[in-house]
Amino acid sequence: MDHFIYKDGVLHAEDVALTDIAREVGTPFYVYSSATLLRHYQVFDESLAGMDHLICFAMKSLSNVAVLKMLGKAGAGIDVVSIGEYLRAKAAGVDGSKIVFSGVAKSKMEMRTALEGGIRQFNIESEPEMEALSQVATELGVEAPITIRVNPDVDAKTHAKIATGKKENKFGIPISRAREVYARAAELPNLKIVGIDVHIGSQLTDLEPFRQAYRKVAELTETLRADGHSITRLDLGGGLGIPYTRSNEAPPLPMELGQVIREEVGHLGCEIELEPGRLIAGNAGQLVSEVVYVKEGEDRKFLILDAAMNDLTRPSMYDAHHDIDPVIEADAGVEKEPYDVVGGICETGDTFAKGRDLPPLKAGDLVSFRSAGAYGAVMASEYNSRPLIPEVLVEGDKFAVIRRRPTYEEMISKDIVPEWV
Ligand code: LLP
Repeated sequence: MDHFIYKDGVLHAEDVALTDIAREVGTPFYVYSSATLLRHYQVFDESLAGMDHLICFAMKSLSNVAVLKMLGKAGAGIDVVSIGEYLRAKAAGVDGSKIVFSGVAKSKMEMRTALEGGIRQFNIESEPEMEALSQVATELGVEAPITIRVNPDVDAKTHAKIATGKKENKFGIPISRAREVYARAAELPNLKIVGIDVHIGSQLTDLEPFRQAYRKVAELTETLRADGHSITRLDLGGGLGIPYTRSNEAPPLPMELGQVIREEVGHLGCEIELEPGRLIAGNAGQLVSEVVYVKEGEDRKFLILDAAMNDLTRPSMYDAHHDIDPVIEADAGVEKEPYDVVGGICETGDTFAKGRDLPPLKAGDLVSFRSAGAYGAVMASEYNSRPLIPEVLVEGDKFAVIRRRPTYEEMISKDIVPEWV
């Protein structure tokens, strides 16, 4: 469920007409609904009611400081994968004790900064990383809390580019080697084992892979405890998928995932952490764009937009589908026509949709891409020297620009021309 609905024929985010934002901010822009973000956080929180738990928003999906602050105030922790993300989370007022640090390439500088600023745990992805952290923690004279990410070799049945839990993926250590690696971690100075971490992929629409992975983690918990390790925390990752179309069958709900968690690991008495990104942010955001031209091709019509693949990369990168709605609702019964919806970048891959049925549109009309809140703004680039587009946050009948559109001068001024050129 989200809070993007037509009111009096105009698409609104909560009580704000997208046309009003477009007038003030210009297009294209991302817009987020606070009520949707908070609701999605709350359904996760409720899904683990009665169990000790922390929902750590995977901020790689949407990393605006205003959004992090809102979720942090609601009680969320944050999952970060770089020190840049860590510093954003801190800038949003999130306490280090609620920040978990994931990612396969943490540098010593990143480890040091997180240890100095406070961190809930490092999710360790390899033995060399574990040794580096032990060294940094020893230099600083502190203890670094760790989980080790295990790779359970489970098929997440999702897009190959976002599956992470198969043995051929770069993530975690093979679960078959877990005992040995935990034993090594216990020997290393200044590391404190607190639990186990697992994350098998993103946009999962079936609970079975989660169940298989969690079952393996439960078995491992008992084995490691028998080996004498203190396993008090299970970080069960993110990955629950969202509906990208109205017609598709909806993926399972957080409540159902919560049930699987209770069934598979509930008896262990561990504190549970989850790292959802997409499910919290995805349907809480849209990308609004203006039609620049409608071009008649030989055998098709192109809807040319002022947004392009640099603003929303998912369709070109993963062939992802995003529903596209006209901001002004079409009259009932109006006949739709197929359009190839494209941006202005000089690549054929800059195509958002092919043969998409839409009501007749003309230059100057606004359209909105649904489900663009997660992995939208964060994956944007300035390709073709197109400045990053603004982000807007709506709450009820008010809205605020939470990232402004840079000027062209600002964009260009980052380049430095040496005097010898
Ligand atoms: N935890 C870890 C360790 C992750 O690697 C990820 C996502 C998450 C949590 C959050 O997963 P989520 O709940 O959002 O599925 N750019 C791609 C998605 C990449 C996901 C990367 N890792 C896309 O646009 O589909």
